[in-house]
Amino acid sequence: MKKSVISLVNERFSCRKYMEKQISNETQRLLKDFLENNQIGPFGNCIRFCLIAATSSDGQELKGLGTYGVIKGAQSYIAGAMEPGQKNLEDFGYLMEKAILLSTDLGLGTCWLGGTFKKTSFAKKINLTQNETIPAIASVGYIADTDNASGWLGKAVSRNKRLPREQLFFKETFTLPLPKSEEGAYEQVLDCVRLAPSASNKQPWRIIKRDAYWHFYLQRTKGYGKDSFIMGKLLKLADLQRVDMGIAMCHFELAAHELGLAGSWEINEPNIEQPNEWTEYTASWHSRYLK
Ligand SMILES: Cc1cc2nc3c(=O)[nH]c(=O)nc-3n(C[C@H](O)[C@H](O)[C@H](O)COP(=O)(O)O)c2cc1C
Repeated sequence: MKKSVISLVNERFSCRKYMEKQISNETQRLLKDFLENNQIGPFGNCIRFCLIAATSSDGQELKGLGTYGVIKGAQSYIAGAMEPGQKNLEDFGYLMEKAILLSTDLGLGTCWLGGTFKKTSFAKKINLTQNETIPAIASVGYIADTDNASGWLGKAVSRNKRLPREQLFFKETFTLPLPKSEEGAYEQVLDCVRLAPSASNKQPWRIIKRDAYWHFYLQRTKGYGKDSFIMGKLLKLADLQRVDMGIAMCHFELAAHELGLAGSWEINEPNIEQPNEWTEYTASWHSRYLK
């Protein structure tokens, strides 16, 4: 990426209105090259990503793909096909978010779509095999001028809607919020987690700092099911909150690397009392930077 990842995290917002203009060949090539090499997540699952770009000059072809009218004018989508595997949805979220940040770096707008897309249309486009599923896709394209203004405003609004740090980051147990003074070199890293996109903006990630570890827990939203009524239709959704967790891990890791904070992922569940039955341990970042 050309720009700093931290600035890209700040720049990104869910863009739902695009210019009716194809992504340039050179930008498509850069994006495709990236997708080809962006296949293995931190938990070892291999995901197959494809760029679906309008081929006809008028871009009508993609209109048929259907996003229930939520996305206007998009000429391209990134879709990923995933096979069964342990923590495959977390890997999916992690890898797709890298592609989203690269797209932001290339000057493109993006929007994650986990509910408002027609699975069968996308399945056909990417020749989905029987063993694969598409948990989510992302629209990608040039931000429409009209959305630029509303996009920036929208961004400010959605940012204000993020949960306060005290509800996201903790010290040693779930009962004690992490004091800002103890975030240390990780302050900006935690900012980047907080700005991560999440399905319905639920922000289901919780992080507990203990010794040299940052432990990641999923706090599921009660009643946020796999099947939802969207635009009057019952849709079968993937477990999107696990995808959200992968996105948060991506922001954490990329920001830490950028700041020179060495560390790596481990599955090493600590003995920490969980607040309720909707809390689940996912993984821990073992920090090798000990200040
Ligand atoms: C896994 C996932 C699925 C999402 N699905 C949809 C969707 O189906 N339709 C939509 O309009 N936005 C969708 N979003 C976008 C979120 O609503 C958005 O990220 C959140 O409200 C925060 O706003 P921001 O991305 O502008 O920061 C999804 C986001 C994520 C991470």
